[in-house]
Amino acid sequence: MNRTMESLIRRAAEDIMERGTAAALTGSGMSAESGIPTFRDKGGFWEKYDPNLYAHIGTFFTDPGKPWQMVKEFDSIARAQPNPGHHALAELERMGYLKGVITQNVDNLHQQAGSSNVIEFHGNMRRAVCLNCRRYYPMEEISLEVLPPRCECRGVLKPDAVFFGEPIPAIALRQAQEASQQCRLMLVIGTSAVIYPAASLPRIAKESGAMVVEINPETTPLTDHTSDYIIIGKAGEILPKIVSEIRTLSRAGKEIPRSR
Ligand code: APR
Repeated sequence: MNRTMESLIRRAAEDIMERGTAAALTGSGMSAESGIPTFRDKGGFWEKYDPNLYAHIGTFFTDPGKPWQMVKEFDSIARAQPNPGHHALAELERMGYLKGVITQNVDNLHQQAGSSNVIEFHGNMRRAVCLNCRRYYPMEEISLEVLPPRCECRGVLKPDAVFFGEPIPAIALRQAQEASQQCRLMLVIGTSAVIYPAASLPRIAKESGAMVVEINPETTPLTDHTSDYIIIGKAGEILPKIVSEIRTLSRAGKEIPRSR
């Protein structure tokens, strides 16, 4: 670990302790170390699958087998496990510093790691919904032998994730906006911050007085204008170090009251 990274990790630990109410916004980079490809990096999903053909809601009405071909590959997600970054966020919540996670990810890994307050901004791929009768099915109960899978009513099933052309679920949108307004520090982890409205949440947080701290191996459009600072690195490496730094500072008696 180089000096700059070490001092930024310490700074983040102090800021989280001092500011108390933190929220996290996560993107696909959060799960990269669990073996799930991101969308826009080299080797990402959109390199292989044109989102207009495979990830647009319209396709479910014109050629519904197509998006399910991609979903079948995404099914590897069923075998993915949370990485140390997911566990660190769950730990931050248990320690009382993190109020919740707003995630653009549809892989359920925050929930699996033990985070209890997760806002599913783009839905969840572990469920499917019938486009005809709105019945929900756990993904593991669906056979992907014949595509598209259908409901008992013969309606086409769709993963309960937000596809291009679909609105963000109203409750998730409201909860995410409120969490962004109320937090005093927002960790923005593993997102390229180019897809709206998710990318507007750090700005909402900033305009409401929060500090914005990015964790990402690359800079993003937020880095220069919205973020207070960025810790360049991988979520699965940086987040556990922040948690352990908070523990060290707490033991040294540097705990700062959280109820502000
Ligand atoms: N740790 C942290 N960040 C990482 C890691 C890692 N180990 N590996 C990659 N990243 C970063 C990349 O540098 C990039 O900024 O994760 C980001 C991934 O960006 P995208 O592929 O654009 O994914 P995301 O921001 O989640 O996309 C948003 O776009 O297509 C939609 O619905 C899809 O929810 C998704 C949304």
